[in-house]
Amino acid sequence: MKHTITLIPGDGIGPEVSDAVVTVLAAAGLDIEWEPHDAGATAFARTGDALPPSLLESVRRNRVALKGPIATPIAGGFASVNVGLRKALGLYANLRPVINLPGVPSRFEHVDLVIVRENTEDLYAGLEHEIVPGVVESLKIITSHASARIAKFAFAYARTNHRTRVTAVHKANIMKRSDGLFLSCTREAASEYPDVTYDEVIVDAACMHLVMHPERFDVLVLPNLYGDIVSDLCAGLVGGLGVVGSANLGDDIALFEAVHGTAPDIAGRNLANPTALLLSALLMLEHIGETSHAERIRQALVRVLTEREIRTGDLGGTATTREYADAICRELSRGVRS
Ligand code: NAI
Repeated sequence: MKHTITLIPGDGIGPEVSDAVVTVLAAAGLDIEWEPHDAGATAFARTGDALPPSLLESVRRNRVALKGPIATPIAGGFASVNVGLRKALGLYANLRPVINLPGVPSRFEHVDLVIVRENTEDLYAGLEHEIVPGVVESLKIITSHASARIAKFAFAYARTNHRTRVTAVHKANIMKRSDGLFLSCTREAASEYPDVTYDEVIVDAACMHLVMHPERFDVLVLPNLYGDIVSDLCAGLVGGLGVVGSANLGDDIALFEAVHGTAPDIAGRNLANPTALLLSALLMLEHIGETSHAERIRQALVRVLTEREIRTGDLGGTATTREYADAICRELSRGVRS
């Protein structure tokens, strides 16, 4: 089946890892027409707009997008394109499966958890102002609408994917009203899913438990900011940001992206590891019903990683982005012959 998908290569290493992923998906025999669109620093330099309306129109039309990393200027400059995309497209759930990848060295084995992060509010609402010089207020927005929506999403995901437990992560002992509201919504959702075990953990304790016994967790549901921090921590449990994919999901639009940034220190040098964006692309293939293609690419990726001959510098190898992608393509063609 033919698919039309918006491609946002992004900044820094984005075009290199996107190119590698497009090559692998083509080698797997997928019939995809890509609609490429610039965003972020590249688009801003060219058009003065970091999030061009034509990009949003393309994603709304195709309902599926694959996105590389986008640079966000610190303390000034244009607003975060990542946050803008999530808001403009109603992508309220950020899903990040964290699982050991064979052949990738990590401190833990048997990690198999899923982060479900609320994507639209909390301190990410970006509502900040200076009350008087030297005093800045930043508003943490938590609504029952968004909290109930993400809680239901987490439980429905758990049920559909045969997962047994959802853990709500919070700081309601201190933020009694805001995180308290979040918790009352997760409890309410839990009561509608009696087949899924529900528990709660305070965010600081959650971090400690995660770095001691990550295998004890299953699905975690978190407000936006804790979700942002804890999901990077969890990536570190299985080998880092280069080997974890993610999806941003709304009711009828899905945008898949690597969780790492633009890696300015290695950009343009053909050194980046495209695995994270490839894993995001596999989530995308499952989303559009190309499950068998996704599985075949996953197996080819795992074969390359376990043979350990061809891997990028972040995983201790010397291969270029292109050589690594070509190795996965070769494994795919071997898979076809066998
Ligand atoms: P970063 O993830 O770009 O880099 C951190 C370190 O990891 C660097 O040493 C980099 O070389 C390495 N690294 C990252 N991805 C890699 C890959 N695929 N292969 C090999 N090595 C990799 O984080 P940093 O430096 O904090 O952020 C740089 C820019 O990226 C910032 O402008 C930030 O706002 C943006 N960013 C964008 C994200 C997105 O679009 N979703 C997410 C995180 C950051």
